[in-house]
Amino acid sequence: MWLRGLSRGILTELGRAVSSEAGRTMQRNQQLASVYVSRRIPQEALRLLQDSGICDIKHWDSEDPVPRTELLKGVAGADGLYCLLTEKIDKELLDAAGPKLKVISTMSVGFDHLSLEEIKKRGIRVGYTPDVLTNATAELTMALLLATARRLMEAVAEAKNGGWGTWKPMWLCGYGLSDSTVGIVGLGRIGLAVAQRLKPFGVKKFLYTDFEPKPEIAAEIQAEYVPLDKLAEQSDFVTVHCALTPETNGLCNKDFFSKMKRTAVFINTSRGAVVNQDDLYQALTTGQIGSAGLDVTVPEPLPTDHPLFALKNCVILPHIASATVATRTAMALLTSNNLLAGLKNEPMLKELPL
Ligand code: DGY
Repeated sequence: MWLRGLSRGILTELGRAVSSEAGRTMQRNQQLASVYVSRRIPQEALRLLQDSGICDIKHWDSEDPVPRTELLKGVAGADGLYCLLTEKIDKELLDAAGPKLKVISTMSVGFDHLSLEEIKKRGIRVGYTPDVLTNATAELTMALLLATARRLMEAVAEAKNGGWGTWKPMWLCGYGLSDSTVGIVGLGRIGLAVAQRLKPFGVKKFLYTDFEPKPEIAAEIQAEYVPLDKLAEQSDFVTVHCALTPETNGLCNKDFFSKMKRTAVFINTSRGAVVNQDDLYQALTTGQIGSAGLDVTVPEPLPTDHPLFALKNCVILPHIASATVATRTAMALLTSNNLLAGLKNEPMLKELPL
């Protein structure tokens, strides 16, 4: 409406200006990197991408994972992919993305959802989020270990449901950390951070196993390197912190549990598939081990009618080890920064060596 009063000449000039602005926008758009973001992420992290001025963003703006067919469509022609551990980045997806894809940035420290061989073949760079989640994950591991060992879930239920009759000498007794031996499967950043937090609880000895000895890290907690079966035999608590790889898939199985102490507490905050869940169920129901605390399972979510949920000596959390506001925000920002660096052919803050 406001155009009505303008002269023909001005209109023409305006038209030219508009069309050349449109042209510039088009040109700019052609230079923008096409980026697919596969989930609703913290505002700060999205803003970082938007304000960079180099991204044309397609966003699956939902709390729930993007359906596979949508994802395959959405990534077509993308230069960059911002993904979560819920997205399987395999040959099918990489083919769907096409040859322009040059950077994948995952909002996770774990990378078992990425087909690294396929990614490497295509020369794609990968960003991930180590370090920023170490403290939160170690804290949650402590909480889960103590809740499992001291039977907190059972105790809360008893107190609430009338099971609290009177003080009884041996009622709801669990196991303490004082004077104990703790076995760490995978002595990386998180394994070490857990051990550092456990130490003041009076742990007598730390054992660890890994694909090779890590003397420098082990020295910080005076941990002894032992084979997996020795760790199983000697530990009062076993806590799993290794990455999921073909070598660690199903590592904690029947054989492993059969070597553990009958009173031992087993904790896993790494990946569900490191544990053979059927074997764990057997071990828990036959008294082969004392109890288990799991933050990760197969599948996720674990169906509510899964037999493990029925066990009093099994505490299951919904994969929340890194879930503090600060940590998840830091992970999301790091993921954006890694992505932008990759798009600009610059060094990433945290790049996965391939
Ligand atoms: C990861 O980052 O891999 C954790 O499992 C979730 O924080």
